[in-house]
Amino acid sequence: MSRPDDSGRDDRESIVGEAGERALVRPFHGLVIETRRLVLRAPTAIDAPAIAEIADNPHIAQNLTSLPHPYRTDDAIAWAGDATEDGEQKHLICLKRADGRHTPVGAISLDHRRGARLPTLGYWIGEAWWDRGFATEAAHAVIDYAFLHQGHARLSVSCRVTNNASRRVIEKCGFQMVAQELGHSTFFQAVVPVDRFQLDRRTWDSLRRWEPLRLAAV
Ligand SMILES: CC(C)(COP(=O)(O)OP(=O)(O)OC[C@H]1O[C@@H](n2cnc3c(N)ncnc32)[C@H](O)[C@@H]1OP(=O)(O)O)[C@@H](O)C(=O)NCCC(=O)NCCS
Repeated sequence: MSRPDDSGRDDRESIVGEAGERALVRPFHGLVIETRRLVLRAPTAIDAPAIAEIADNPHIAQNLTSLPHPYRTDDAIAWAGDATEDGEQKHLICLKRADGRHTPVGAISLDHRRGARLPTLGYWIGEAWWDRGFATEAAHAVIDYAFLHQGHARLSVSCRVTNNASRRVIEKCGFQMVAQELGHSTFFQAVVPVDRFQLDRRTWDSLRRWEPLRLAAV
């Protein structure tokens, strides 16, 4: 992981979580996260055509709260343009290729704007790359960063009750369901039922420390 703005200045902000817990949170400053197969970095206007090509898909928009549909290059430019300004931590998910170049395959965000109940995870992967574990790999990295480096105590994520693939990603990250509620959908211009999940730092820490099984010879 690298953090370009590494001046040593303490720029953390105090936030209050849903259960009244306080945390000091470091805002997002152009962070780059590398995983085994992926690079997560801030999107730029140069990425806009590639983002628009994969995000312009009703199978993606119908499962997200507010992704425009149809999704045009201008939408991607607007999304990339405010990537470091509005307090929503946005990463373009890029696949590392054998030739050393990176191919955009999706996006993941952690929304910790003032007024948000809890820092909230959101993600999508281009349909051509579904079921290869990319959403889970990206989510694991963003969650690790949130707990290890940003001081968050608890994270939230929601998915439509019909979104079984996202539910699996959420389960594979250790989230537990806390509520079923109605959420707005830009795609349907209506409210839709969603399941809401939370993951607290202690549960995450315990899962990360799960030791490999050792069988004793008898
Ligand atoms: C949800 C989404 C991000 C998953 O991305 P992905 O990279 O395919 O996810 P992963 O490969 O990491 O994991 C998908 C899991 O769901 C499972 N899955 C896929 N389709 C499924 C289905 N219809 N029913 C049940 N499970 C399903 C996969 O088998 C896999 O689980 P496994 O590892 O236990 O086998 C992707 O489908 C997507 O972008 N959908 C549209 C946008 C969206 O739903 N975003 C999330 C909003 S909450």
